[in-house]
Amino acid sequence: MSDNLMRLDTPGHDVVVQVADRAESPLGVVIASLGEYPVYDEAAYALMGRDEVRNAAYRAAIAATVEGRTVVDIGTGREALWAVTSARAGARHVYAIEEMPDNAALARRAVAEAGFADRITVLEGSTGTVELPERVEVCISEIIGTIGGSEGAAAVLNGAAERYMLPGAAYIPLRCATTIGAVDLSGIAPEGITAYERDHVRYLEMIFAAMGGPFDVRTCVSGLRCTPYLTDQAEVEHLELTGAATASGSDARTLTVRRDGRLHGLSLGVRLWVDAGQDPIDSTDASTSWFPVWVPVSAEGVPVRAGDRVRVEFGWRPAADGIHPDYRLSGRIERADGVPAAFTWDSPYRGSGFRGDDFHRTLFPAPAPADPAP
Ligand SMILES: C[S@@+](CC[C@H](N)C(=O)[O-])C[C@H]1O[C@@H](n2cnc3c(N)ncnc32)[C@H](O)[C@@H]1O
Repeated sequence: MSDNLMRLDTPGHDVVVQVADRAESPLGVVIASLGEYPVYDEAAYALMGRDEVRNAAYRAAIAATVEGRTVVDIGTGREALWAVTSARAGARHVYAIEEMPDNAALARRAVAEAGFADRITVLEGSTGTVELPERVEVCISEIIGTIGGSEGAAAVLNGAAERYMLPGAAYIPLRCATTIGAVDLSGIAPEGITAYERDHVRYLEMIFAAMGGPFDVRTCVSGLRCTPYLTDQAEVEHLELTGAATASGSDARTLTVRRDGRLHGLSLGVRLWVDAGQDPIDSTDASTSWFPVWVPVSAEGVPVRAGDRVRVEFGWRPAADGIHPDYRLSGRIERADGVPAAFTWDSPYRGSGFRGDDFHRTLFPAPAPADPAP
């Protein structure tokens, strides 16, 4: 097998993926959007631990909010990061919930090492089943996905508000939105987006193992941050993270093309309002741990002119697990110089199709037939 193809360790399924090193083609390689799956490992937490844009906003919000109050930290992670930060900031007691058992055990160790075993209780399990011994005054969470709601923030935080929180409770973060803008790859990834980042292939294996087999996972292009958009950006999927999030909905928006070019796809980002008085974090114009999601439209690029319109409809609704959304984006490119071009992108949480479109067939070439038995 060539150096650019890897056979995945997916028992019962023969899956081959096209790979490249990020250094070779920083804008042409994708990684899986992984935050919505139970595959958090040391490297994933380390990435968030280095995200100073995110962390500075959380530290400031926690310092301003928790002193003398009771707190729940939803999805505390293996370092119990915001639970320990809250205890240091004077929280009276913190309940730190983590659904991945190994990471909950590590969180318990981190709490003990930080000397807060008396003021932080680590509870292993999902918020769907974990109960708190008392209602609390502050809810801290960081379950914001590469698409704002993709980690289940709407369902999880609505449930938390109902079952965990006292009236008048404070929430960190407050709200989020997903951003959409169209991208012309011509000047930045002329070969197109054709390969997975080699070092990230293990997450594909972990996701396929956790979810029962291969499917077309949504992908992120880490190098697309801070890329000039071909159109303006619009916000969709506004989620109030204070117990009033819309768990299913649909938003129609019109994007206007800013310059002549070719439309290859759309990039989805996150805007996150961590605390009142702070500017939102925008994952498309700052270097954060949220990578832009790639919505492929056309490998060759649809020719467009300044002033053309892209009408998009962005919908989300809970998948079969009742928590993580299935997404659908449909669009129509209205061109002064050409016939309209329509496109649809379905991105379910756990889709049933694999290699269902040209984009995924390029990333996952058909495996060569096995050699005949001698
Ligand atoms: C994005 S990470 C954040 C980790 C850490 N709080 C931080 O900000 O660095 C999300 C964490 O939440 C956990 N998680 C997600 N949904 C959860 C739920 N419903 N109940 C408990 N834990 C959850 C995941 O396993 C993961 O550890």
